[in-house]
Amino acid sequence: MSVGFSYVDIVGDKVHLRPTQATDASVAYRLVKNGAVVSNLAWDGPTSKEELLNTYRQWEEETKSGEKYHFAIEHSEQHGLIGCIDIRFPSHPLQADIGYWLGEPFWNRGYMTDAVRLVCHFSFKYLDTARVSATVFAGNIGSRRALEKNDFSLDGTLRCHVYKHGKWMDGWFFSLLRTEWEPNRGKFVPRHEVVVTREGE
Ligand SMILES: CC(C)(COP(=O)(O)OP(=O)(O)OC[C@H]1O[C@@H](n2cnc3c(N)ncnc32)[C@H](O)[C@@H]1OP(=O)(O)O)[C@@H](O)C(=O)NCCC(=O)NCCS
Repeated sequence: MSVGFSYVDIVGDKVHLRPTQATDASVAYRLVKNGAVVSNLAWDGPTSKEELLNTYRQWEEETKSGEKYHFAIEHSEQHGLIGCIDIRFPSHPLQADIGYWLGEPFWNRGYMTDAVRLVCHFSFKYLDTARVSATVFAGNIGSRRALEKNDFSLDGTLRCHVYKHGKWMDGWFFSLLRTEWEPNRGKFVPRHEVVVTREGE
């Protein structure tokens, strides 16, 4: 659904989410220019700092207009981007699909589990979403667990889903429906949130 936001700050137990800004590009570049991160993404990563800066400029506009939503993941007690989580709408405006990555120094501390929880809350509460989905390269257990811990179900395996580094990767397709989130929505509620839409601007 095309809702633009002028301000978003959603604070969880471990991380908080806010829209990415062009000023995040240099930190993001350092973290994402890492084979261990991009080997698990359909995206091969930026080819230069300038390319990523332009991408982040475009993302600022997309989030403001509601075309897509790009959030920086920050530690809840500390400023500075440690990863990203995005919401896009590849098939229908009420079907949200998420993608995410975290810098390697921050893995395995429950950060992405918290970020996925918060982005589901945002999507179901503010965007009227019917379903949130994510596709994970088969074998990416950390990503799978972050989804399962947020009540996502494995709908199936998309065979030969992405061609990456000279081979076809299968994709595990996970989803969480509004009807599954609704009875457990308390579990997804952030510690604190300030969300301001651009309606009426
Ligand atoms: C995959 C990724 C998102 C996981 O984020 P994270 O913050 O490290 O995950 P969490 O700490 O929230 O862990 C979630 C669960 O997965 C487990 N886990 C994390 N990494 C794991 C790994 N490499 N192997 C097995 N289990 C793993 C954790 O132990 C935890 O499970 P548990 O609570 O049952 O013990 C992160 O490693 C990453 O960004 N990787 C590179 C990019 C990527 O894969 N993006 C996802 C594309 S779909």
